Amino acid sequence: MVGAGDGLNEVVRAQLVGGTLDSLTSFAVKWKEIEKMERNRKDCYDEAVNVARQRNPFKPTFGASPPLLVGRDELLQDFSEALEAGPGAPARATIYTGARGTGKTVMLNAAQEEARTRGWLVVAETATPGLLERLTTEHLPRLLTQQDPKAKQRTLSSFTVPGSLGGGLAWDTTEQHPAVPGLRSQATDLCNILAAQETGLVISVDELHRDLLDELVKLCTVVQHAFREGLELAFLGAGLPATVSDLLSESVLTFMRRAERHELGRVGDDDVALAIQRPILDEGRAIEDDALQECIAGTGGYPFLIQLVGYRTWQQHPKEKTITAADARVGVEQARRRLGSLVHAPEIKACSDIDKTFLLAMAKDDGASKTSDIVKRMGVTPDYANTYRVRLIERQLIESVGHGQLNFALPGLREYLREHAAIAHITP
Ligand SMILES: Nc1ncnc2c1ncn2[C@@H]1O[C@H](COP(=O)(O)OP(=O)(O)OP(=O)(O)O)[C@@H](O)[C@H]1O
Ligand SMILES: [Mg+2]
Repeated sequence: MVGAGDGLNEVVRAQLVGGTLDSLTSFAVKWKEIEKMERNRKDCYDEAVNVARQRNPFKPTFGASPPLLVGRDELLQDFSEALEAGPGAPARATIYTGARGTGKTVMLNAAQEEARTRGWLVVAETATPGLLERLTTEHLPRLLTQQDPKAKQRTLSSFTVPGSLGGGLAWDTTEQHPAVPGLRSQATDLCNILAAQETGLVISVDELHRDLLDELVKLCTVVQHAFREGLELAFLGAGLPATVSDLLSESVLTFMRRAERHELGRVGDDDVALAIQRPILDEGRAIEDDALQECIAGTGGYPFLIQLVGYRTWQQHPKEKTITAADARVGVEQARRRLGSLVHAPEIKACSDIDKTFLLAMAKDDGASKTSDIVKRMGVTPDYANTYRVRLIERQLIESVGHGQLNFALPGLREYLREHAAIAHITP
């Protein structure tokens, strides 16, 4: 504990030698107060250490980058290499697809960060109405003004005879890059400026959707021209698999169809272990082996569950140094329930009645379902059932596992359907 200070010893000595009874008593009171303050200081320090130890590192929030992004190194490398490789590299147009919560947005974030560390400029957008306007009136003019040393050009607007009252030169400042709807010229100007610095521009659009077809077609035309002209431009996109397939079925989007498409899926057990253990250790806590195994199994490799399970497991006893298997069991259970309301419920709500009937017919099996059994349970023809099988696979709710066999693609969906069959308004 920190002492009350050397000067105090002098005061104590003086008090003991020359002090009256009154002054000694008041000194004793003061001394006790000082001691109390010191104890408080120590308590505050301990509390601060505890609080620091309680900081939960996991980020179970859509769009929030995780403390450790795992299983995506190769994809990130692909994109980085394309930036280095120059115009013409296939991954300069890359689209990430994947079910809800597989990490599309955070993948875009990470790819953008790769670009930034190489000195590239990034425009990060979402496919919502007004995308083109935002590009041409906000992002590109802003970046052009920042980058172009001649962006503000001074022009002589008037001249009067020097020496006369108020005489001299008057200047007007005009913007070289006014906010006009000229996506192609703005993008070209910016890329040319950046090329001189051996960098370029990344345009990233999340949540690709057919609703924005017109704007995306226009954007793609500009990107396509830029590629043809060998400009330093890269395009990143992301969206749900069915939505992206739907969008790309449009013949006008040939260019985007040629983009490198990567399906983000589950990550392997080793990566899950890393994603859970490393942030815990980094925050000064530890996790028992059994607990870690429990967490790995609980996530099923699904990225959103990694964060949910990590978060909930940590939260059981945040002040304890070590996370136990019991913490992990409760954490996994809570995470699964949360996943139900955050992911399963909206997915099922968006399904048609026949989709739901199909899923509920599958939920009767404890493991993989035979397509022939589903056809029988639904009482329909194989062709009819097949239409829904394809749709549900595209939506990444189910997946084909071996010949004539299907299984659920989202962890916990079977259990959710069993528990919530009534919500689906259909008797399983
Ligand atoms: N590779 C990963 N490693 C660890 N955690 C991840 C990984 N990818 C995503 N996550 C976590 O999963 C959650 C969902 O990520 P994100 O929001 O990017 O998903 P998404 O695919 O964009 O979902 P949506 O379809 O709803 O837009 C976030 O909490 C994120 O931190
Ligand atoms: Mg997203």
